[in-house]
Amino acid sequence: ARLPRVAAYIYRKKYKDDTHIEPDPKLDWAANLAHMMGYEEFDVKRLMRMYMTIHVDHEGGNVSAHTTHLVGSALSDPYLSFAAAMNGLAGPLHGLANQEVILWIMHMREELGGGLPTKEQIAAFIKKTLEEGKVVPGYGHAVLRKTDPRFAAQQDFYARYIKGAGKTDDLCEIVQMVYEVAPPILESTGKIKNPWPNVDAHSGALLMHFGVKEFDFYTVLFGVSRALGVLASLIWDRVLGHPIERPGSITTAGMKKKVKTILKKQS
Ligand code: MLT
Repeated sequence: ARLPRVAAYIYRKKYKDDTHIEPDPKLDWAANLAHMMGYEEFDVKRLMRMYMTIHVDHEGGNVSAHTTHLVGSALSDPYLSFAAAMNGLAGPLHGLANQEVILWIMHMREELGGGLPTKEQIAAFIKKTLEEGKVVPGYGHAVLRKTDPRFAAQQDFYARYIKGAGKTDDLCEIVQMVYEVAPPILESTGKIKNPWPNVDAHSGALLMHFGVKEFDFYTVLFGVSRALGVLASLIWDRVLGHPIERPGSITTAGMKKKVKTILKKQS
């Protein structure tokens, strides 16, 4: 319950001269986070409500949810279990991706001379990213095989509350253009199971729009939301009396066989 306060405290300490804002008891959990971070505009509170809702959990099998479950299975207390989960969320293939997306977009914009690029320029930049052996951040997913509904929810937010209010935003427009251009390019490589965007492909652009420009804080926001999902699941672990988790190991002979198969594939 106190995570928004902790996160807002860190935010203000790190980025806002160590000046702090008391919570407003009339506000809900998510809106209070926006308020304590220093954002009073109604639409930022609205965004934070959506952000805190869509990042809660996703099937319970992702790294942060599974880590909470794993560490909690040793009967480590919920604080320790959640802290372990946050170390997993910090990985670039997990929660850090929301920062990587915005950095990639800003890098693209800079390379293309600033302003709004064309779809052709974006397509060329995506191809260059892939040729350099890198991934297009925010695209692909371990289990999803279509556009992440959490991405669509953010597109809807942009359409309703930013464009719908007569404003536009270059970064959000680029997010949209990448969505139109990237999937066929990714599909054409024949190596990608899911060429569609996930939740991280949009979130940073919306935060930037409202002035939350400290992108190294984005994964913290993801973490505050994720606490709700993974700690609720930890309660279920206890209710259901789940045993300590211990996957099987493999023998040295098994390992040698695996390495041989990998080497064979590479040659
Ligand atoms: C998540 O919300 O954790 C991501 O979509 C990653 C996943 O579900 O594996």
